[in-house]
Amino acid sequence: MTSTTDLIHFNLFEMNCVGHIQHGLWRHPANNRHRYTDIGYWTDLARLLERGLFDAVFLADVVGLYDRYQGGPDTAIREAVQVPANDPLLLVPAMAAVTEHLGFAVTFSTTYEPPFAHARRMSTLDHLTKGRVAWNVVTSYLRGAARNFGLDDEIEHDLRYEIAEEYLEVLYKLWEGSWEDGAVVRDRERAVYTDPAKVHPIDHVGKHFRVAGPHLSEPSPQRTPVIYQAGNSERGKDFAARHAEAIFTGAPTLAELREEIADIGRRAAGHGRDPGHVKVFPGASVIVGRTEEEAAAKVAELQRYIRPEGFLAQRGSGIDFAAYDPDDRIDDLVARGGDFTERAVRHLVGRDLRVRDVLGSIGRVGQGPLFASGTPGQVADEIERWADETGAAGFNLMQYLSPGTAEDFVELVVPELQRRGRYRTSYDDTTLRERLLGPGLHRLPDTHPGAAFRDFR
Ligand SMILES: Cc1cc2nc3c(=O)[nH]c(=O)nc-3n(C[C@H](O)[C@H](O)[C@H](O)COP(=O)(O)O)c2cc1C
Repeated sequence: MTSTTDLIHFNLFEMNCVGHIQHGLWRHPANNRHRYTDIGYWTDLARLLERGLFDAVFLADVVGLYDRYQGGPDTAIREAVQVPANDPLLLVPAMAAVTEHLGFAVTFSTTYEPPFAHARRMSTLDHLTKGRVAWNVVTSYLRGAARNFGLDDEIEHDLRYEIAEEYLEVLYKLWEGSWEDGAVVRDRERAVYTDPAKVHPIDHVGKHFRVAGPHLSEPSPQRTPVIYQAGNSERGKDFAARHAEAIFTGAPTLAELREEIADIGRRAAGHGRDPGHVKVFPGASVIVGRTEEEAAAKVAELQRYIRPEGFLAQRGSGIDFAAYDPDDRIDDLVARGGDFTERAVRHLVGRDLRVRDVLGSIGRVGQGPLFASGTPGQVADEIERWADETGAAGFNLMQYLSPGTAEDFVELVVPELQRRGRYRTSYDDTTLRERLLGPGLHRLPDTHPGAAFRDFR
């Protein structure tokens, strides 16, 4: 018998836009990315993912343009690099209406969304989906985003995380502490819908936020949505280890990923949490065919459509690689400072790379962390190896063609993993948190910092 810990979990990485992470491929005749404005695209996708027993669809989001490359946003606009882009949250009710189990992880920014309004929207979605919602907490990284929300420039990096800490405190108070269980009595005889003695203001007065409460939403199945995070910096990793229940990581090699996952576990334990309650999901790129030749032909065809310009426009969000001498060493540029901060190019530092190496690899099909192509058996071998050797709970499946990548995965890879006892054969949970953490855990575990706000009064 297969225990749930042997199961490998999958999310699909998506965004409500044309060019998400693979640029140029919207031109591929089999791609449906241009249909992102069509509600039918999303409902079909949701049905497909539920048929494939995915954990969740993970919706990325940014709220500004990539405008550093060649001094402006023109390349991003021309190549559809995360613009045009619509709101991620509004897709969820449509997808939820045609599914019963699929989870929805939605990206929202602690820097730009007022906490009270955001808390209510997430509670609403958790009610409507019966506990299938997660929030990918981001602090946002684009200069243009800051200008869209009334600032002259981005708030300094660590201060963004400081604000995010207080933001979460406000939300935990609203979600966990403001309404007691049993507050809603719905007593027709006594004409009492809600017992006022069990509904509490939060009266939060902090450095960055003042929120009186009480929360306007009654407790939803999960109360706090499942918390996702993808911080990369020291501050970001620490934030994730404290709050996140699912972490999306981008470590480039298997060895680094294993170390990163061990580090996340240590940090989580350092915050008094059960490391088993922090699941790590690296990205996985999968190109599968019925034969090796078919898979290789798909790789070659995708490569023909990819446009490096799109990657250059998005890359690092702050660095215009094309503006540097191809012979420049990355380590020298970091030592010199400017745009080339260690944070911006962390995965390129200490590898004796030159700008030409980076430019040469940009837009190549087959980039990690996990890239697997071949027959279903070969792909499943790689997926199992990476999961077993790193401790990853599962993967976020990256798409080349939408929904073709997911269709291939559901048709060819899922049955192979199921045969090996590594993939669920039915959904047997009721909320997204239970699916991740185990039976009975609809709500935050007691060791999660948010649980401390259940009786903050
Ligand atoms: C795989 C992955 C996906 C991400 N998705 C988003 C996103 O959709 N929106 C966003 O604003 N930031 C996104 N980020 C950025 C992170 O949330 C974070 O801001 C970034 O990694 C910088 O982290 P740091 O500030 O801790 O260095 C993503 C990061 C990774 C690694």
